[in-house]
Amino acid sequence: MSGFAPVIKWSGSKRSQANQIVSFAPNKFNCYYEPFVGGGSVLYALNPRKGICGDICEPLVGLWNQIKDSPEKTVIAYELRWTRLQEEGYQVFNEIRDNFNLTHDPADLLFLSRTCVNGLIRFNSKGEFNNTFHHTRPGIHPERFKKIIFDWSHKVQGLSFVCKDYRETTGTARKGDLIYLDPPYFHTKGRYYGKIDYDEFVNFLEELNKKGIKFMLSLDGVRGDDDFTMPLPKELYKRHVFISSGNSSFKKVMNKESLVVNESLYLNY
Ligand SMILES: C[S@@+](CC[C@H](N)C(=O)[O-])C[C@H]1O[C@@H](n2cnc3c(N)ncnc32)[C@H](O)[C@@H]1O
Repeated sequence: MSGFAPVIKWSGSKRSQANQIVSFAPNKFNCYYEPFVGGGSVLYALNPRKGICGDICEPLVGLWNQIKDSPEKTVIAYELRWTRLQEEGYQVFNEIRDNFNLTHDPADLLFLSRTCVNGLIRFNSKGEFNNTFHHTRPGIHPERFKKIIFDWSHKVQGLSFVCKDYRETTGTARKGDLIYLDPPYFHTKGRYYGKIDYDEFVNFLEELNKKGIKFMLSLDGVRGDDDFTMPLPKELYKRHVFISSGNSSFKKVMNKESLVVNESLYLNY
């Protein structure tokens, strides 16, 4: 399993596979890029010296910048909301969710992610957070959370976080750099924030190959009897390995039995 606690619980997190993914990373690289950063599990496991991470979800990127630049403030903001929840009850959750949907305050997002049903961050088509309160859980205690927030803050000091499309985030990448790509599943449009065009993505990979930039790409896979493997053109990569993630992250959501999931990892080196 993962061996580390997430700071941001994010849909499609690669936490259970992060150490396996990182075992395929080249020993040496210059700058690290993670343009679909989400909850950042791979960057945690890799621990790069310097890098650029991006995501198109603006409040998520805002949250990464708060964790990096002001961990103490991040803890205090969580503690304030958490204490109100314990004292005033679940209406506080609804109030904070309404506020988040108006203001996109990253501190609200962090609180919601820690108190919503199954910790599942979910947005509707208008970009509104639409998961509900998890009635049987109080949310992580601020004292415990503080350690996690400071640990991650320390880890990401050499990284910058930008709210950009993946092509822009990686625009400065050069030969010798490493890019980890974890695009939203092409077959679950809407479950994640944003969607990307498959053909454009393939063109993007071609460009990386032309420039000699190394990439590791997580892409779909096999979940129980369902095969979601995407047909990636063979000339785009050198190796295709399967990474076992133990069970499906959709398990709780879909209320299904535990399924063995094997995710694809493509490497162009
Ligand atoms: C599968 S998740 C990444 C999960 C991450 N690896 C983790 O371990 O938590 C995909 C991410 O891509 C982001 N995304 C979707 N479309 C994007 C785009 N065009 N450019 C950049 N990020 C995008 C989503 O907001 C989401 O956070």
